[in-house]
Amino acid sequence: ARHHGQSVSLRVQPGKTSFFPGRESETLGYNGSYLGPTLRVHRGDDVEVAVTNALSEDTTVHWHGLLIPGELDGGPHQTIPTGATWQPVLPIRQPAATLWYHSHAHGRTAEQVYAGLAGLMIVTDDEEKALELPSEYGVDDIPLIMQDRQFENGSLVLPQGMRTRMHGRRGDTLMVNGTINPFARVPARLVRLRLVNGANARFFDLAFTDGRPFHWMASEGGLLERPVELRSLRLAPGERAEILVDFSDGRPVTLATGPDSNVPRMRMMERTADLTGGERDAVVRFEPQGAETSVVKVPEQLLTHERLDPSTAIRRRRFEMTMGMGMGSMMGSGSGGFGINGRSFDIGRVDERVGLGDTEIWEVSGAMMAHPFHIHGVHFTVLSRNGSPPDIRDQGLRDTIVVQEPVELLVQFLQPAENAPFMYHCHILEHEDNGMMGQFSVS
Ligand code: C2O
Ligand code: CU
Ligand code: CU
Repeated sequence: ARHHGQSVSLRVQPGKTSFFPGRESETLGYNGSYLGPTLRVHRGDDVEVAVTNALSEDTTVHWHGLLIPGELDGGPHQTIPTGATWQPVLPIRQPAATLWYHSHAHGRTAEQVYAGLAGLMIVTDDEEKALELPSEYGVDDIPLIMQDRQFENGSLVLPQGMRTRMHGRRGDTLMVNGTINPFARVPARLVRLRLVNGANARFFDLAFTDGRPFHWMASEGGLLERPVELRSLRLAPGERAEILVDFSDGRPVTLATGPDSNVPRMRMMERTADLTGGERDAVVRFEPQGAETSVVKVPEQLLTHERLDPSTAIRRRRFEMTMGMGMGSMMGSGSGGFGINGRSFDIGRVDERVGLGDTEIWEVSGAMMAHPFHIHGVHFTVLSRNGSPPDIRDQGLRDTIVVQEPVELLVQFLQPAENAPFMYHCHILEHEDNGMMGQFSVS
């Protein structure tokens, strides 16, 4: 295989960002003042990275979705102290996919990501190239990092308090790629959108305002076997999806999200109050330009996945994500009762030990609200949801999955993590920082 080098430097730095004209906010960014550059890597590359921490506090850079050994993962064990440079070499040995990177500093992930420490990583490979999908970056292949933030007088504020801890940090202002009220000029043809839910806690229930269908073509782990026609798509924090949208009718259209309704409920039957008043919020407006030039068709087939046989699983583990005050949580720890299996995260405790190369079934459930469950170092498939065959939207290789009803996940562990364990956690970042996380070794 061709393993050529490529090098990337990231400087983690404080900055000032004008989200609203004439109003500055204190933010954090990689090389710039908010978010970071899109890293484009090819399967087979060995990417030499240098991350320099120019903040006045510790940070880490986690490569969310990258299949690499534990010591390269950038989780809470790979702390980069102020002034230091971390230089991992990342072996890219996985299929084309939309990944992202973000801070995973111990106890500080939510605040650092909220302030801006996130960016996109795109993996390409020859199989995907052969499909001739739209892939002109920024033209017909458009990344959309979706976030919500709270502003006061035009400056970013950091919500705090009990509600923030329970719901996760939310805001009434939506942004895409760090821009408020974004629009994109797109060619009047088939366009690929790489959707990333980079919010701390908000779920996005996406649909086009004119109800047009689109084709979902890739999940977190890469291409699906074949595109799936949908009219709406739910993306939880940490999840990504690639979709193909036909703009050949030349009409402007808005991608919008439904109300922000994932809030804790004490009882199952209680009605939920929408945090945003039940309205649909615009995420991004598309303005098709020019006459339709070529007719690019949605391919019928994308990629054939080798299916892992569930009967090869050698063990089951159960994980229950619990919140303080819930019936499932009786732990009364200092972190307010957030945990997994009744235990709050402890960086000095390895919760699970997995054998390298093993396949297992992980049963995951959660209390009081929907929690996006993420596992480092693996891509898994969903075997069941609420005891039934999974939803059509559960297909593909995943690294983050919404757990509202209990799910069974089929997971194969192919990356070693002996001295530096991997994490599994709720991707509502305030839940994670408050203890809804565990760690596992693979050896
Ligand atoms: Cu995207 Cu453990 O994180
Ligand atoms: Cu991750
Ligand atoms: Cu959670």
